Amino acid sequence: MTLRSLLVFVLSMCVLGTAQAADPIVVKFSHVVAPNTPKGMGALKFKELAERYSEGALRVEVYPNSTLYKDKEEMEALQLGAVQIIAPSLAKFGPLGLRVFEAFDLPYIFDSYAELHKVTGGALGARMLESLEPRGITGLAFWDNGFKSFSANASIHKPGDLRGKKMRIQSSKVLDGQMRALGAFPQVTAFDEVYPALKAGVVDGTENPHSNFYTQRMHEVQSHMVITDHGYLGYAVITNKKFWDGLPGAMREVLARAMREATEYTNQIAKAENDKALDAIKAAGTTQVYVPTREERLAFKKALMPVHKAMAPRIGKALIEAIYEETG
Ligand code: LMR
Repeated sequence: MTLRSLLVFVLSMCVLGTAQAADPIVVKFSHVVAPNTPKGMGALKFKELAERYSEGALRVEVYPNSTLYKDKEEMEALQLGAVQIIAPSLAKFGPLGLRVFEAFDLPYIFDSYAELHKVTGGALGARMLESLEPRGITGLAFWDNGFKSFSANASIHKPGDLRGKKMRIQSSKVLDGQMRALGAFPQVTAFDEVYPALKAGVVDGTENPHSNFYTQRMHEVQSHMVITDHGYLGYAVITNKKFWDGLPGAMREVLARAMREATEYTNQIAKAENDKALDAIKAAGTTQVYVPTREERLAFKKALMPVHKAMAPRIGKALIEAIYEETG
């Protein structure tokens, strides 16, 4: 071996060694919904952008459909550092002892995405995310899903039609109060168990935006749905604070940029994805989709608005009033 080829050999070993040493930083992103929903698509967009912008220095592994963690476990796993990013619905922050997010569950608190964005895109939303810090969690963004409809195996035209029904809810005291205001019996069920619970008749009905309803095949086991848009379901995308603060600055920048752009994307597609899902539910022909009259809508609103007052001591009157003010 000549001196020159020896030098080339030694140099190439060094380069190889460096490449092997620089393994990508792995970011696990776990969620409970299907990939073809606003949250599922947002997570995949985030992966694509983070990996592209970091030129391979970051690897984002997305685990949809509760494959890694279910509703209850994911928050704990995040705090333990077993997963780096999750995006629970705003209804699921109760176990952290945080009640501010429950304001989003109040029926009819937002009439449109535009109203909602005044809160999630403003100072109030930023303060809500900051309130996670003492729990070892950094809030990265709010992601939209959409407005909920009720479903059951009987026609629902007016609030009284849900009286006596066992209704699946997410684990939120506000949603519990909402179902009780209708004379229904709320039953907390993990998201991955909703389809089997409906199928087996463990619960009679549920509520969800159309994207979740369709992708979880609830239309196969619910004969009726009423488009009430009575409440909002969206997400806080959150990360483990220690992980986030411990990242090299450049990597944190890349992830923050990817998150900003993935957020814009998700919130842009959310409504269209829910509209598409509603078309798919109608096309499946297994669920009768009812659009209530103006009077019937008002009857639902009248039955549910008292939940605001009932929940004020829990969520904070000042916060609820700040939201009214913001959404004007
Ligand atoms: C539900 O449990 O119905 C939702 O929170 C699921 C989700 O993440 O959209």
